[in-house]
Amino acid sequence: MRESFGNRKVTPAERKQLISRVFASIAERYDLMNDLMSFGIHRSWKRTLVKSVELPAEAVAVDLAGGTGDVAAAIHQKTGNNVIVADASQQMIEVGRKRHKSALRWVVAEGENLPFADNSVELLTLSYGLRNMTDGEKTLDEIFRCLKPSGTFICLEFSTPVFWLKPFYDFYSWAIIPRLGAFVAREPEAYQYLIESIRKFPNQNQLCQQFVDVGFEGVRYKNLSFGISALHFATKPTKHGA
Ligand SMILES: C[S@@+](CC[C@H](N)C(=O)[O-])C[C@H]1O[C@@H](n2cnc3c(N)ncnc32)[C@H](O)[C@@H]1O
Repeated sequence: MRESFGNRKVTPAERKQLISRVFASIAERYDLMNDLMSFGIHRSWKRTLVKSVELPAEAVAVDLAGGTGDVAAAIHQKTGNNVIVADASQQMIEVGRKRHKSALRWVVAEGENLPFADNSVELLTLSYGLRNMTDGEKTLDEIFRCLKPSGTFICLEFSTPVFWLKPFYDFYSWAIIPRLGAFVAREPEAYQYLIESIRKFPNQNQLCQQFVDVGFEGVRYKNLSFGISALHFATKPTKHGA
């Protein structure tokens, strides 16, 4: 993934720049596009993520690549904890800041270089962000470093749907989504990138293996809408760093 932008071969520096441009250009219409593209179903996927969250009072929670803050706001609403939204895009954060006036903390940060101390975070959520990192492996190492022993990592991403759904899903993805992106967000290329990047992303089991390789334990996943998205859960081992 480091050397591609969708189906295009690029250098990591170019990838970073292109992805940054994508989110700067769609920030204002990002949430509207999500509602239109998924018929609002992305909200239920995010609700499933939030339902699975359990946090002790005062625990530090980070929503990485948190964008406009909807997942972080829902976690705050459920648990009462402060949640830090960390995202590389100033533009996405600005849209979120206007929408969620209080309770959240915002930090411009890259997943590959997180501004949190070792073993300091109880919960890190990452929704539709891992696929967009310049360096996914480095990001996973960073997440592992920042989490406390026994800390939880929850990743929500597009994944590989069951075989019978694929023809419909592919038709909808390639024929409809870029047109919606052109019409609503006026950024067809951003949505072409979305479709291509989903196809290049590891499937459910491959992603589990990546988490295990980083050192996580208790790695498991739950398919959402027949695998269009998947929630992956992982825990940093208790004895790590103790
Ligand atoms: C598809 S959006 C997801 C936003 C939100 N989490 C959601 O579920 O709607 C991807 C987010 O990843 C952020 N992002 C891209 N590359 C990043 C990086 N290297 N580090 C941190 N955030 C990054 C983008 O700015 C964007 O806000």
